[in-house]
Amino acid sequence: MCGIIGYIGTAQAAPVLLEGLRKLEYRGYDSAGVAVLEGGGIDTVKTSGRIEALAEKVRAAGGLSGSVGIGHTRWATHGVPNETNAHPHVSSDGRFAVVHNGIIENYVELREELISQGVSFRSETDTEVIVQLLDRCYDGDLKQALMRTVSRLRGSYAIGVLSASDPDVIYASRSAMPLILGIGAGENFFASDITALVSHTRNVIDMDDGEFAEIRRDGISVFDHSGKLIRKPERRITWDIAAAEKNGYDHFMLKEIMEQPAALKASIEPRLRDGRVVFEGLELDMSRFDRVLITACGSAYYAGCVGRTVIERLCRVQTEAELASELRYRDPVMDERTLVIVISQSGETADTIAALKECRSRGAFVLSIVNVVGSSIAKLSDFVIYTWAGPEIAVATTKGYTTQVAVLEMFALWAADRLGRVSPERYAEIAAGIARIPERAQRALDLNASVRRLAKRYHGNSSLFFMGRDLDYAVSLEGSLKLKEISYIHSEAYAAGELKHGTIALIEPGRLVIALCCCERLFEKMVSNIQQVKARGAKVLAVACEGERRIFSEADDVLLVPRADEILMPVTEIIPMQLFAYHVALENGCDIDKPKNLAKSVTVE
Ligand code: AGP
Repeated sequence: MCGIIGYIGTAQAAPVLLEGLRKLEYRGYDSAGVAVLEGGGIDTVKTSGRIEALAEKVRAAGGLSGSVGIGHTRWATHGVPNETNAHPHVSSDGRFAVVHNGIIENYVELREELISQGVSFRSETDTEVIVQLLDRCYDGDLKQALMRTVSRLRGSYAIGVLSASDPDVIYASRSAMPLILGIGAGENFFASDITALVSHTRNVIDMDDGEFAEIRRDGISVFDHSGKLIRKPERRITWDIAAAEKNGYDHFMLKEIMEQPAALKASIEPRLRDGRVVFEGLELDMSRFDRVLITACGSAYYAGCVGRTVIERLCRVQTEAELASELRYRDPVMDERTLVIVISQSGETADTIAALKECRSRGAFVLSIVNVVGSSIAKLSDFVIYTWAGPEIAVATTKGYTTQVAVLEMFALWAADRLGRVSPERYAEIAAGIARIPERAQRALDLNASVRRLAKRYHGNSSLFFMGRDLDYAVSLEGSLKLKEISYIHSEAYAAGELKHGTIALIEPGRLVIALCCCERLFEKMVSNIQQVKARGAKVLAVACEGERRIFSEADDVLLVPRADEILMPVTEIIPMQLFAYHVALENGCDIDKPKNLAKSVTVE
């Protein structure tokens, strides 16, 4: 969702801000803006639409000269995405500019209070109250004014502040929204995430809730909510800068699909030692839990649906998966005997954070599976297992999802062993299968050319179905979401046995049904379901395991993926579906990395 960036140094701020905003584009946005301190005043340029349009306006405005500035990409929540509602927002007297990611829940009350004091508002946003309030609170001390301002705010925020009265400093503060500080030489930064800064510095400070950063050219001071100076550890970013670039690929999504063997290797290999699964530092007595609850949103939830089946099957412990966006509303029964597994690529998903807090407040132990180090979910959990997928930029997750599934499979084996529920032979068999996941993922990628041909044939379908049973059903949920989110084609995933309970009424001649048939035990039943939809004129594209001959006489098109133990199939089985979604979207001319209305990191509930 919204992205913020701030710069103070000796270089021209505008190009640094625009470059940073381009890197934040992946978060999802519909308008953007920058503000730069120039000649004792604040110059602001804003636009609805893309960063390129903003860069063009900056050029037309003469380039904005000045070495201190802030920038923003906005994903509209309060007010339409137009130039007036775009950030930075400037106080009525023009002294202050603010960029903000998050939602100010009490903005109506604050707005009314300020209006009663004579302040007039220009935008429909919640953010404008921050800058107008800051202006009212300022009596010559910007830090105090900001502290007073945020003490009045309810909701979530990462804020960046620019002041014409204080030209040698910028401020940043956060509460429940991501914010990091970048440390350079004679220049310093703040941003929503490291991708915006990594071309300038690899040394960062992770901000925590309630903290303020005073950022000057020659140093950064961080204060707690009471204004007391605190020491914050620095962290060095080790991933290659190329990881956040397209590297010759047309889209981040395709690059990230192709990176899956490497991402899986990075997530699996360090945790497999002499054929044993090892999670460094995880000392969990599994016998203290009588149930496992997995919670997440979107694709991470679908990874959880795979995890639910695998954990329950191997550990023989009751395991459920529940949408994080729903969990709170049903007043869930849980206590210290519940192990909650929270899954999130970004570690910043608002609904997932809310569910996590709810579970912790009820005494559950929270283990999270997260890709972004230092993210909010990582900080709030009792234990974190990182997926080492590297930065994921495309809105549609691919390597994020497969590494989550792989880690869940490893955790299931680890936990089953702790509980004494898996024989040494079966343990060795599964561990060996896990070790070969990256190689199988690589072979699944060889299907790219065949998938592209199928996408050319089927991209015109306006609606289609995915079906599968058991783990295949869990994978079909993710396959369907992938297609929907980037190609805008209506698609639904059905448990194959459910089709005949209603949905089969929608099957008509020419309708494409994608049948996932990688659970060998259930193959015959899937064949029956394929026959049922074919009898009504559907075209069937089947995904099955290599060596499966019978499927050729049943389906119109077949994609064969490398065979593995049934519980390890999801990681490879999803890959042709990711490629299918990609190529269909390409054929249909969609903006693959930035699908309409979507954001990479969904930081509002
Ligand atoms: C996946 O392609 C989606 N863009 C989305 O469903 C995503 O998985 C969901 O928003 C959860 O994100 P998280 O993993 O960062 O928590």
